Order: sequence, then structure tokens, then C-alpha cells
Amino acid sequence: MAYEDFVKLYAADVKSTPEKLLDQKPLSFPMSTLVRGEALIETVARTIDLDFKGKRVLDVGCAYGGFSIAMAKAGAKVSGIDISAKFIEYAKANALNTAEIEFNVLDASSIDVRKTFKKGSFDFVLLNDVLEHIYDTASLVANLDWLLSDTGMVFFKVPNGFSPRFVLSEGHRRIFGLTVLDPDCWFYLYPKRASIFYRPLSHFQAIFSHFGLSQTLLIDEERVFARMPQRKLKEQIKEIFAKARNLEHPDPVFKTYLRQGILRFRNEFFYDVENNTPEFVQYKYGSYFFTGFFARKSTKLKALTSTRAIQGFGVVTERASAEAAAAA
Ligand SMILES: C[S@@+](CC[C@H](N)C(=O)[O-])C[C@H]1O[C@@H](n2cnc3c(N)ncnc32)[C@H](O)[C@@H]1O
Repeated sequence: MAYEDFVKLYAADVKSTPEKLLDQKPLSFPMSTLVRGEALIETVARTIDLDFKGKRVLDVGCAYGGFSIAMAKAGAKVSGIDISAKFIEYAKANALNTAEIEFNVLDASSIDVRKTFKKGSFDFVLLNDVLEHIYDTASLVANLDWLLSDTGMVFFKVPNGFSPRFVLSEGHRRIFGLTVLDPDCWFYLYPKRASIFYRPLSHFQAIFSHFGLSQTLLIDEERVFARMPQRKLKEQIKEIFAKARNLEHPDPVFKTYLRQGILRFRNEFFYDVENNTPEFVQYKYGSYFFTGFFARKSTKLKALTSTRAIQGFGVVTERASAEAAAAA
């Protein structure tokens, strides 16, 4: 019954009804928390040889709790943390009578993490749609290095703000150009505090690497090499440029910021087209989300399926079907 309890609680908070919320197709981000949690288990099982049974897992930014629940059901001993007390309330309601999970209100980038958990106490840390919400990536990753066992690993999924799709319409606010603007410019278009920080994948790779988590295994969940030829990307860049040229906004300072952001984005794209491999360009701009693992060198992190090495990013797996992974 716990999921129903969570839906009731959430529905009351957003002044809706459980029926209305569950009727939406596809389910909204909060309502799909359990389904997305199950999908994570499948993705991990398809990609590497990892059994959650007995693993000590930390779900950072656990929000509605679905991922924590899925990993607990798969046999892991799970702790979930979130900076928001409201989210922890939802997660607890969701897990009630379903899974034994320890939930805490905690800022993952604060030193309080080290007062709450022992050094080396996790085998697996999940950052699902979380990296883009944490300003201080370095303090976060320093904490993860402290929390992870010698053979531990981090699984992450983060939106790619520099895919033309998200430049055209930012994933949270659906506004053109937000992702190429620094968050302190967002107030021109969106009145609230941003708390979303788009960074290139190389930003995260550099910081994880600095803290010893230099082994990367990226997952091509979206089959980007088949789906996103350079021609399509170039067409989207043209569309972005045309939109920026014809932009209507009363504030000339904002217009300048946005045009500068778009120009910088366009120049980087064409520089990459001229100076890097087609696969690099496809992966860097064609991916809507980046998904994968960070781990220390001592961790066994071998893909079950075939991989390709992309200069500048590292090893990227091909997406395998569930049957192929089971047979591997
Ligand atoms: C987009 S939600 C993702 C929730 C969940 N992982 C999922 O995929 O459904 C981002 C979550 O990160 C949490 N968060 C943001 N900054 C945080 C921080 N410094 N420490 C812990 N959690 C944080 C937010 O409160 C929010 O619940």
C-alpha cells in the first residue's frame, strides 16, 4: 500500500487527486519514481556484472524514494538522503511496509555527511538526475571518495544541457536558451532561484578523476551513434541560431547575454566538428542525458557488452537488450 500512500500525500500537496495523477500518460516524474527505479536495476544488470544482494548503497538526492525501494527489493542495504525534508517525507511514505531503508535529511556536499556515515561504508552510490542540482561538485565528490569502499562505484545520470534539444527547450522550465546561460541570468526568464547548474560532462569527469574516481564507463542508453547524425545536429544548431537572432525580449542586457551564450555554443560545436571525430561530436551534442559509472582504478568495472573508446570521453558501451546481457 505504500506507493498509494505516497501518491495520496503528494496529491494533497499539489492539490490534485491520486486518480488524476495516475491517469497521466506518461506518468509524471514523481509518479514514475518506482518504474524508473526498476529501470535502473535493469540498466545496471545489462551493463556490468553487479548483484545488488548484500551491497551497501547510498541513494543521493533520493526524492520520492523509488530508486531506494527498487535497490532494497533487489537485496541491497539502502540509505537514502535528500537535502529536502519534504522529499524525505515522501520517500518514507513510499517505502513504508515495503522496504527497510534508512532515510536522512542531509546536504550531500556538506561535511555533515562524514558525521552521519562511516568512511568507506558504501559499495554503490546513486546520483540519478542529481549532479545538475548541486552547485559545489568538488565537495560532493570529495564526500563520495570518503564514503566509497575501495571497490565501490558511483552510478550517475545527468541531463546534457548542451544537446541542441535542451538548448531549444530546457528540460525543467521548457524555456529556449536557459541551458547556455549562467544560472545568475535565469531570473530574466524565470523568476525563481535556479538551483540547476548545467555543466559539460568533462567538468564531472575532471572532478571525479581528481578525487581518484578516474575510471569511467559510459552507457549509450539512447543509441546516439545510430540516432544522431551530424547533419541533424547541424540543422538543430541553425534553428537555435535563427531563434536567437529573432529573439524578442525587453531587456537589451539579457539579449546580449543570450546571444553571447548561443554564439559561444555554436563556435564550440563547429570547432568540435572540425577538430574532433564524428563520434565525439555525436556523443557530446547528441546525448540528451549522460549515464554511466565512476570508480577507482581498483574497482572491477567491465562492460558485459561491446564498447567503443571515444577520445576525450573514454569507454562507451553499446546498449544491449536484456536477453543479450543475460546470455553474456
Ligand atoms: C531531480 S531530483 C532527482 C530525484 C531522484 N533521484 C530521481 O531521479 O527521481 C533532484 C534531487 O536532489 C536533491 N538535492 C539537491 N541538492 C542536494 C544536496 N546538496 N544534497 C542532497 N540532495 C540534494 C533534491 O532535493 C531533489 O530531490
